[in-house]
Amino acid sequence: MKDILAIIIDKDPTANEVIKQILDDNSKIKETKQFLKLEDGYDFSSTNKPDLIFIDIEYGEDLTFDIISKIKKENKNCKIVLLSRKAEAKLLIKSKKAGSDRLLLKPVLKNDFDDILTKLINEINYKSDNINTKIISVFSNKGGVGKTTISTNLAIQIYEMTQNPTVIVDFNSQFGDVSTFLDVKTDFGISYLLSHKEQINKDFLFSILPRYKDTELFVLSDIFYLNDVKELSLEDVQDIIDALKSTFSYIIIDMTNVYDLKTMKILDNSNDILFPFVANMPNLRNCLRCLNFFKKLGYEDKKVKLILNRVTESDEIKSDTIELTLNKKLYARLKNDYYIVMSAINRGVGISDIDEKSDIANSFQNLAYSLIKDEEE
Ligand SMILES: Nc1ncnc2c1ncn2[C@@H]1O[C@H](COP(=O)(O)OP(=O)(O)O)[C@@H](O)[C@H]1O
Ligand SMILES: [Mg+2]
Repeated sequence: MKDILAIIIDKDPTANEVIKQILDDNSKIKETKQFLKLEDGYDFSSTNKPDLIFIDIEYGEDLTFDIISKIKKENKNCKIVLLSRKAEAKLLIKSKKAGSDRLLLKPVLKNDFDDILTKLINEINYKSDNINTKIISVFSNKGGVGKTTISTNLAIQIYEMTQNPTVIVDFNSQFGDVSTFLDVKTDFGISYLLSHKEQINKDFLFSILPRYKDTELFVLSDIFYLNDVKELSLEDVQDIIDALKSTFSYIIIDMTNVYDLKTMKILDNSNDILFPFVANMPNLRNCLRCLNFFKKLGYEDKKVKLILNRVTESDEIKSDTIELTLNKKLYARLKNDYYIVMSAINRGVGISDIDEKSDIANSFQNLAYSLIKDEEE
């Protein structure tokens, strides 16, 4: 266990003092420094690298977020809690993007605060030598429902928001759809990893896997033109997942349409299964069958998340009918936007690069945010 240094940056002396008192009551916090001025808190943080930082948004959104991203860049392992009187989705997303780890509503209530504090202290102690990986697979036994579109754009958004090493795995085909969607060139794929199992660590993976742009979002796919691509065994699949878990915070998997033992192994390993479908009868029937099947496998209801894709105003089957028929809430709805989705694919970039303000880009941000948030609860 680490002795934790905390700082509070809040220009309201009373609020500042309330937080100080709660921190003082916690035996894991060794020392707490208080600042009323944003610059003073930032200067202290640059030199002393505190573990835990509480920062109020009253200095103005732009300035506060700017300082948060600076702090996070200089001190990647610190935990930042944003203090705010409101918790709108837009603000939450912006604060995540800037690099804050939690949002705490003011006025601060001791019970809420203690909950958050316990989790943060655990993360501070845990993060230093272990990664808490989240595996999200995007699965459907139907083709053309948006699996690759969703997995690639989700991976981009999750990486953008968390800035944590993320990998997208193309278990989908030997035709490298993910690599095309993200415009990366794969020299070493799944088979290469399997033949170098002993060497696998962070440096190795970072050096052989292609990155999306200059980020720490990596792509792992099969390479179809190699003659030696062999059928993966169940053990191979598990080995790959385990190897990736030691390095990446998020593993996003674009799955095949085939439901077999390998698919089952991946789904078993996943924290979340995103199930995309479109609003027509064959898709709905299929969805119902799959949901029943997942239930039989013993998957928790919340593990399987329905994504209604390609939604249009003129859809004959409306979302509420779908929810009634499937007896399950939709986790997300993505608008049909042929132009934006196609240009993103053609240019090998994320949807948000084409039009960050579009509905569909927004939906992906919200989807990424709710998946990240789920894990915190
Ligand atoms: N929300 C959407 N709006 C418009 N077109 C979409 C949307 N989602 C997917 N598409 C299109 O549908 C096609 C199939 O999508 P894809 O992600 O490749 O599906 P899958 O991986 O399930 O086969 C692609 O051409 C893609 O451009
Ligand atoms: Mg696909």
